[in-house]
Amino acid sequence: MTLTPQWLDELRARITLSTLIGRTVKITRAGREYKACCPFHNEKTPSFTINDEKGFYHCFGCGAHGDAIRWMTEQRGLGFMDAVKELAAEAGMDVPAPDPRAAKKAEAQASLRDVVQAAADWFAQQLESSNGAPARDYLARRGISEATRKAFGFGLAPDSRSALKEALKKFPTAMLVEAGMLIAVDDKEPYDRFRGRLMIPICDARGRVIAFGGRILGDGEPKYLNSPDTPLFDKGRTLFNLDKASPVTRRTNRIIVVEGYMDVVALAEAGIDDAVAPLGTALTENQLGLLWRMVPVPLLCFDGDAAGQKAAMRAATRALPLLRPGFSLAFATLPAGQDPDDLVRAKGADAFEAILESAQPLVERLWAHEVAAGPLATPEERAALKSRLLAHADAIEDTDVRHHYREAFREKLDALFARRRPDRGPRVPWAPQGARGGGRRFAPDPRLQPPAEETRSIGQAGIAAPYAAALIGGLLRHPQAIRRNEEALVRLAIPDPGDAELLAAMLDIANAEEGLDCEGLLAILEPMKVYNRAMTLLRADGMHFSFNRRLEEGEGAAAARESALRDLDEYIGVLVTQPEIRARLAEATADFQRTMDDEGLARQQKLRALDEDLTRRLAALSDSSHGSTMN
Ligand code: UTP
Ligand code: MN
Repeated sequence: MTLTPQWLDELRARITLSTLIGRTVKITRAGREYKACCPFHNEKTPSFTINDEKGFYHCFGCGAHGDAIRWMTEQRGLGFMDAVKELAAEAGMDVPAPDPRAAKKAEAQASLRDVVQAAADWFAQQLESSNGAPARDYLARRGISEATRKAFGFGLAPDSRSALKEALKKFPTAMLVEAGMLIAVDDKEPYDRFRGRLMIPICDARGRVIAFGGRILGDGEPKYLNSPDTPLFDKGRTLFNLDKASPVTRRTNRIIVVEGYMDVVALAEAGIDDAVAPLGTALTENQLGLLWRMVPVPLLCFDGDAAGQKAAMRAATRALPLLRPGFSLAFATLPAGQDPDDLVRAKGADAFEAILESAQPLVERLWAHEVAAGPLATPEERAALKSRLLAHADAIEDTDVRHHYREAFREKLDALFARRRPDRGPRVPWAPQGARGGGRRFAPDPRLQPPAEETRSIGQAGIAAPYAAALIGGLLRHPQAIRRNEEALVRLAIPDPGDAELLAAMLDIANAEEGLDCEGLLAILEPMKVYNRAMTLLRADGMHFSFNRRLEEGEGAAAARESALRDLDEYIGVLVTQPEIRARLAEATADFQRTMDDEGLARQQKLRALDEDLTRRLAALSDSSHGSTMN
């Protein structure tokens, strides 16, 4: 379609903007302009002006700005060409005929659309057939009703390399390949891309199917498979469910962005219809632009776990350069390890809405992230916080917004450091369970509440495999340490099942036999299947701890053994304590990011200091023994 700038100017000139806008919004004359309450944001006093001479509207409140065509696309939700056609009809102008090249491209796209639509129809038919019973059961188990299943056009790709190809054989194979439905490798016969998967059609903004996401039924890899990019589908420019969400958004004035398509589906099932999802990638600039065309402040929803929070910061930093007056993002944080699907199913739509209610503005999110990111005890550390914040502000291209971000960060920094000086917290006073000889017991700060259920599970994620190996190797060499650290050892989460089994066997043996040495322990282990692993760990010396070293005979041997045992006790203490501290730290960080209060910050900083202290101790243990191997 060739629409010249001259033709578009003529179109704009023939339309009286105030008349056009006056049809949907109450306007009042104000001098040479018109005023109205802005239809793009909520307000009580009018800051929306219409200038017929210039042919523009502008809102001083939210920054909405445009001409007649923009009005039709933004406010009425039409596509560009539909907007032009409607205005041209009103202005009595003929829309120029499409140029042949564009027409050809449109035609090619149209036929690919037919292919993809035919595939969607066929997948849906498969799902509703008797073959589809297990897949329908799967959806039912996930709480997806028949109505939602049909509204989203769910389908089933049978587990076959040729079923779709056969069903769509009226289309040329090359077209099926181009539409992403078949895979063509070298000179081999092209075969069905989606096999044995639940199919979710992905639509463009106008609701036409352009691609698919396929979820494996049950477990397997990859969990989701998307159509490749095709002439119809560009995943960085598409948002799942945009077509269905955008009319709802006009009513709710809200758009929610979640991470997965099944989250969107589950939310719709729960009656929340204004959600969209990107397609397995971080939000692109283009997708942010799509969102900002709908509402000034889209709501992004992320998992409260570390990965989700990282994704939130990625979205935040991507948005910064693009910020304009009135346009921003808000961040809602879900409980760690839960996605919106889990949450609405467990606790209902209200629980999810409550989380959205407490969403943080972008500026707060950045602030909370940076304040929690490092210690703030010394002037240098505080200056580092300031420079991290100012770096975020500097990424903003719009001068006005940048200025206000700088101001906001300055005010917050002043308030934070004027109010209180967070202290470094005590050194970690802990001692291994049952250690004799004036060991200091780990006494948690009374302000440190016990970790919540979900945090506890993070703490139990286990200690890193090399640390576990060094531990078990040390215990094999120094079996005396097993019994006196029993309580601590049974609490440790050993990730490798073989290692866990070996440690369990060692605990049993140490309980049954008093005074075992290394040889004695090995003799008992020998007939067991964990013996091989024991021998391997005994030889492993990757971590350079004193207790992993072979025991020398002769002078000084007893002292060396004593010192290695002390190191091993200390090591076990750190291994037990650190995951708990880390779990509490994760929880305190999330809490603080929600509440942003002094007490929360103090607690978070204290835990961070404890964690750092433990890490230093671990490093010191490894270094000192490394040093002693040099002797
Ligand atoms: P998740 O793994 O969080 O999926 O991936 P989910 O929505 O919770 O899925 P269910 O509940 O197990 O069914 C989120 C999104 O990441 C993309 C998909 O777009 C998915 O919706 N993804 C994930 C992939 O593209 N490929 C994968 O293998 C996994
Ligand atoms: Mn999920």
